[in-house]
Amino acid sequence: MNDDSSTPIVDELRTWIATAAPGARLPSTRTLVRQHEVSPLTVQKALRSLVALGLVETRPGVGSFVRAPRTSRPHDFGWQTAALGTPRRQIPAQSRALQPVRHDVIAFHSGYPDRGLLPERLVRSAFARMARTDAAVARPPSSGLPELQSWFAAELAAMTPASVSAPGPQDVIVVPGNQGGLTACLHALVGAGRPLVIESPTYWGAIHAAAQAGVQLVPIPSGPHGPDPDVLADTLARSGARAFYAQPTHANPTGARWSPQLADAVLATVRQHGAFLIEDDWASDFTLSGEATPVAARDDGGHVVHLRSLTKSVAPSVRVAAVTARGPAHERILTEVRAANMYVSGALQAVALDVVTQPGWRTHLRSMRRELADRRDLLAAAVGEHLPTAHLTAVPTGGLNLWVRLPDGTDAARLTSGCEAKGVLVAPGDEWFPAEPVGAHLRLNYSGPNPGAFVEGVRLIGATLDEIT
Ligand SMILES: Cc1ncc(COP(=O)(O)O)c(C=O)c1O
Repeated sequence: MNDDSSTPIVDELRTWIATAAPGARLPSTRTLVRQHEVSPLTVQKALRSLVALGLVETRPGVGSFVRAPRTSRPHDFGWQTAALGTPRRQIPAQSRALQPVRHDVIAFHSGYPDRGLLPERLVRSAFARMARTDAAVARPPSSGLPELQSWFAAELAAMTPASVSAPGPQDVIVVPGNQGGLTACLHALVGAGRPLVIESPTYWGAIHAAAQAGVQLVPIPSGPHGPDPDVLADTLARSGARAFYAQPTHANPTGARWSPQLADAVLATVRQHGAFLIEDDWASDFTLSGEATPVAARDDGGHVVHLRSLTKSVAPSVRVAAVTARGPAHERILTEVRAANMYVSGALQAVALDVVTQPGWRTHLRSMRRELADRRDLLAAAVGEHLPTAHLTAVPTGGLNLWVRLPDGTDAARLTSGCEAKGVLVAPGDEWFPAEPVGAHLRLNYSGPNPGAFVEGVRLIGATLDEIT
């Protein structure tokens, strides 16, 4: 989230500036320190934000003043219409899930955990340690820091049975988040104009990445138990697709976790069709009960390309993930990664490696999972109580989301804006469907800030639903 302790000061001063005369003097730093009970540094930070917003000017030694509005003349960017032409691909502009989190709302929309769920102390000390090493300035290899490649490979190897030969560090490519890895995979393994089988509903970012790569989506239905392998087999045969993108572990949004039997059946199907399974293992750190083994741990034939991210579990600022792939597919993905990014910042890789190799990492994972399980149960109970006409498709065994089916005919966009007007941010389900949505849904994320307000948030969603139906 974007908030820090300077945010309330910025918000309050913005309200004040809105009605103040140009040139009016802002309260002194000392007054603001006293009023908000914060340090002078926090006040300075708030003032810098207001200067950056063009609302305030500071005169050293004198004070800060409301800036007179600039007389603006309208820009003429009309020439760009001819230069750009009509868009060749329709990539949705932004998902609701990326809307910034304000501190004064109840937020169920975001996909990234609140900072209270992050190993913040480990991350801060890792940054401090990293700053004293070569990683702060050096260029890492394109495939990633060798020690980090080894860590990712070892994590996967630890779940691989002895009968399957485990991947090694040389199979790992470090990428900027699973999103970056997915984009590289779609370019390398599918390509523009070619088909990709995808679950429906599925992660909106995969739909965006496919649009960006010009890949043609072939959806198959998927629910709380995952896809039907017979439908997958038919669809691969009918479409000629050679790749299937899926999230076998705690799918976003449905929460589905594939059974071992389903994992075996899907693997057999992709093998039979000479196809790839692009396994987006985004939530392996968020397993809340039982053991979740990636499908990649069952495959040594190069059919499964495994994406594992640390962005959500270490920190959203540390965009580090890994693609593990074998054979020529590995080379093609690496070529795409080099062409797009050359390499991932060695500084971020060093921080990620430091965090996940600290003894405190495992302890953090355990307590974070307990906290997430409590939040999930709290939210699920609130849905049961305050959204009686909606249907919770399943209580997931992991991940960060509840997937709620709304009564037929609900206008999810209207519900979303009605909730926003009451200070509750939700994500309408439509964004998770690669084709027309088959019903109205909400995705409620339980990793946002202030779980103490969850019940009230759901009550307000229920009140809004009553108003619009
Ligand atoms: C299913 C899924 N895959 C990939 C991503 C992107 O992950 P990253 O932040 O590592 O790019 C997300 C983020 O919400 C996600 O939900």
